Amino acid sequence: MLSIALPKGRLGDKVYKLFSQLGYGCPSIEEDSRKLVFDSPDGKVRYLLVKPSDVAIYVERGAADIGVAGKDTLMESEPDVYELLDLKFGKCSIAVAAKNGWVDDVSLPLRVATKYVNVAQNYYMSINRQIDIIKLNGSIELAPILGLSDVIVDIVETGTTLKENDLSVFNVIAPSSARLIANRASYQFQADIIEEIRAKLEAII
Ligand code: PRP
Repeated sequence: MLSIALPKGRLGDKVYKLFSQLGYGCPSIEEDSRKLVFDSPDGKVRYLLVKPSDVAIYVERGAADIGVAGKDTLMESEPDVYELLDLKFGKCSIAVAAKNGWVDDVSLPLRVATKYVNVAQNYYMSINRQIDIIKLNGSIELAPILGLSDVIVDIVETGTTLKENDLSVFNVIAPSSARLIANRASYQFQADIIEEIRAKLEAII
């Protein structure tokens, strides 16, 4: 049985529908419940519903054989997994945003609020800018509004959250989209089914 880690939420729903289309359906997953593990009726696959930022950890440590994770989360945690395919959906950017009209004072360390600590550190190191990281776990846009930070590093999808909070993008760090990832050992020992899934996905996206 192949274990597949799905990111809980909108992205996961889309990924499950795709897998279902490919012949790996599991109707019980569509029922409204609090269950987190679902086995397909034919016993071929097991779906695990995990927090999106945790998919890579499950796959890296072999608790799941494959999974789908956003490139943003992979850039942040840099897991030791195979990245097999860009699924070309769940598109967004990791960007630097600040209050409209904000001007950088380069004589001071930049206060950066983010949940992407690693991405932000790598980015500012690459442009030689000193920063002071403020790690937050959500509603990042609040930080510059309240003066807690100068900028934020966060994902921007439609841009609505920034717009409704009088913020705008100052730099795009990297584009992101959903990626199919595999555990390194699973990719050796279950190569047939994982390759079959990768090829079928590639054919329909
Ligand atoms: C993410 C992100 C932004 C928002 C961007 O937040 O942190 O706040 O989506 O999307 P938009 O450009 O389409 O408005 P999420 O909904 O994951 O909630 P969070 O604040 O808890 O991180």
